[in-house]
Parts: sequence; C-alpha cells; structure tokens
Amino acid sequence: MSFAARLEAELEQFKQQGVYKRLNHLEGPQGARSRMEGRGEVVILSSNNYLGLCNEPEVVAAGRRALDQFGAGTGSVRFICGTFTIHRELEQALARFVGCASSLTYVSCWNANEGLVPTLLGEQDIVISDQLNHASIIDAVRLAKTSTKCQTAVYRHSDMTDLEEKLRAATASPLKLIFTDGVFSMEGDIAKLPDIVALARRYGAVVAMDDSHATGVLGKQGRGTAEHYDMVGDVDIITSTLGKALGGAAGGFTAGPAPLADYLTQRSRPQLFSNALPPTVAGSALAAVRHLERHPELVTRLHDNARYFRERLIALGFKPLPGETPIVPVMLGETAKAIRMSELLLDEGVFVTGFGYPVVPQGHARIRCQLSAAHTRDDLDFALAAFKRVGGKLGLL
Ligand SMILES: Cc1ncc(COP(=O)(O)O)c(C=O)c1O
Repeated sequence: MSFAARLEAELEQFKQQGVYKRLNHLEGPQGARSRMEGRGEVVILSSNNYLGLCNEPEVVAAGRRALDQFGAGTGSVRFICGTFTIHRELEQALARFVGCASSLTYVSCWNANEGLVPTLLGEQDIVISDQLNHASIIDAVRLAKTSTKCQTAVYRHSDMTDLEEKLRAATASPLKLIFTDGVFSMEGDIAKLPDIVALARRYGAVVAMDDSHATGVLGKQGRGTAEHYDMVGDVDIITSTLGKALGGAAGGFTAGPAPLADYLTQRSRPQLFSNALPPTVAGSALAAVRHLERHPELVTRLHDNARYFRERLIALGFKPLPGETPIVPVMLGETAKAIRMSELLLDEGVFVTGFGYPVVPQGHARIRCQLSAAHTRDDLDFALAAFKRVGGKLGLL
C-alpha cells in the first residue's frame, strides 16, 4: 500500500466510526456571530474569544500599527536578531498583569510549556502533573522525561491527598515542580490553587500553572486563577496563551521570578531555535492587555453570560458539568453522538464543537460550550432555543 493510500484508509475509518473532524470555514472575523462558508450567519459558542477582543477595533489597529512599524516578520529567533522593542513592552505588561516579576513570550503556549519543563529539570528532579492537564503539559513532561531523564509523577485530578503522597515520595528530588492547569480546558473546573500552593510550601516544591483559559477570564480584573483566589503574586510560574482572551491571535508566555525570563532566554530550546513572536501579534496582544485593564466590565459581562447560559441550560433539562467558568461542557459519552449533536446545532445556526477521542478519553465525549463577553442575551437565547430543539430530537431532555 502506498503512503498516501495508507493515510486515505485510516481517514476512511475515522469517517465510518463517526469521529472524522470536518473543518468549517469562517468568512469574517471571530465574534459573537460570524459568517460561515455555505451556512450564512452563525452564533459562535465554541471560541476562546472570551472577551470579544479578536475583532476589537483598538486591538486590530494596534496590530496594523505594529505591522507598519516593524514589518511582517521577525526574521530571526530572539537571541540572534529577532528581538523588537514591542517584545519588551509586551513582556513587561504581561508580567505585571499576571503578578510576576518577569515574562518571556513564545509563538504559542504549547511552546511555552514545552520550553519550560525540560529546561528547568535535571535527572534528580521531578515534575508532578495533574492527570487532566492540557496535552501541551503532558507532552512537555514526556519530552523532559526522555531528554533529561528527570522523574515524573501524575496525581489524580485535583486530588490533594494524592498530590501530597507524590510530594512525600519525592523528598529526595532537589527540584520538585508541581504543574497544573489553572482552568481545566475540557472540564471547565478551577485548580485548587490555595491547597496546591500550601502543599508546595510544606514540601519545598515550585508551582507552575498554565492559565490559558483563566487569563482575561477569572478574577474581577481577569488576572487569572490567582486573582480568583486573591493570591496574585503567590504562584511561582505562570504560563498562558495570547490565543484566547488576549486578542486570540496566537502566542504564549511564561512568567515568573525576575531571573526566569533571562534563564529561559539562555536555555529554552523553542526560544533558541524558533522565530520570535511576530510584531503584529505582539502589538495586538499588548493592546488587548491595555484594553482589558481599562475595561474590567468586560470580565463582569463574561461572568454574567456564563452564569445565565449555564442556569438556562440546566432549566432546559441538560446536565452540564458543574462549574463557574465560561466553559460549559455537556457530556454525551460516545464521540459520534457529540459530533452528531454539533452537526444538528449547526443546522440550527449555532456553531459549537463536539469533542471526542483522542482530545478527551474514550466514552467521555462532550459538546463544549464557551461563552464570551461579546454575546448578547439575544445570542444566548437563540442558542438555548436551538439546544432545546436538538436535545429533544436526540432524546436528551
Ligand atoms: C490549557 C492550555 N494550555 C495550552 C494551550 C495551547 O495554547 P496555544 O494555542 O497558545 O499553543 C491551550 C489551548 O488549547 C490550553 O487550553
């Protein structure tokens, strides 16, 4: 069988199993509603555009200005000749916003996570990771294990007794790094940060938290999971993305104590061997942070929308996973069922994605709704009416 035929055969299998992902093409910017090729206007209930900043005029204009000032590309990695003044401005703003002394940008949070764990850990050290952490953390841990021969452990999701056991077993390791998501992306629940930090202090461990779904989302000012718990400044290392609430383009960053950004600049391989964040993206992300600092009411609106949608969905008879974030997952079990439901919702003009294996474990497929400050009550009521019709059709209510 030729290489191409082998791929075709596997793709055909995905289609027969009902797990094939079809890409939908948007014809305009990301917003509460957008135009989808062949479908017309749809309400988007699946985007990480939590604050509606993807198409915020100030954010778009700042990207354009950066394009004019710095050109299309960086043409280099940071340490050779790809560092622009806008990188420094953005990194100072990000560090201040999340409550850390320094930060360093990457072209994605995936890179930030992969650029962190193998860089910090040596053979005697250990990384202890939550079972439901994002794939980028899982891969970062795997990479560290093979490249540095460090120790690894996984604790049951948000189980503090299990985390403590893993810490107790690791007393001989000079560096113990606990890595957790701030908000777990598929469940929408929040890490037990106060307990994690208390355990870390007791056992002399360092806490790293991926706040991709919490930056711009949690806390009164959107400063993330630490602000949610009134713990700004108490987390050793925060990684996050620029690809969600902060303009939604791409890019990520790692923030931490003063020497961390410098240390990563010296040693982190995605920094050393991959181009710097494009200036247009840096310009938009910087404008997004400043916009958010001036408009905390966006975060309030996001919280109100999430509460409203969750309450109405439950009133209709759905049983979303409990939580208080703008991620509202409706559990369906089989992947094919989640994909079928998302197709029926799309027929009704609601764009929301079904997630199945391998993004979530087998048998835990779901429709993951994500709310935005950009949604109006009309948008949400339109979506809820569609959920009611489709839920009835599928016998879910
Ligand atoms: C928790 C978490 N970390 C990292 C990422 C990756 O972010 P990026 O798109 O910046 O690579 C995501 C995106 O889905 C995420 O949810």
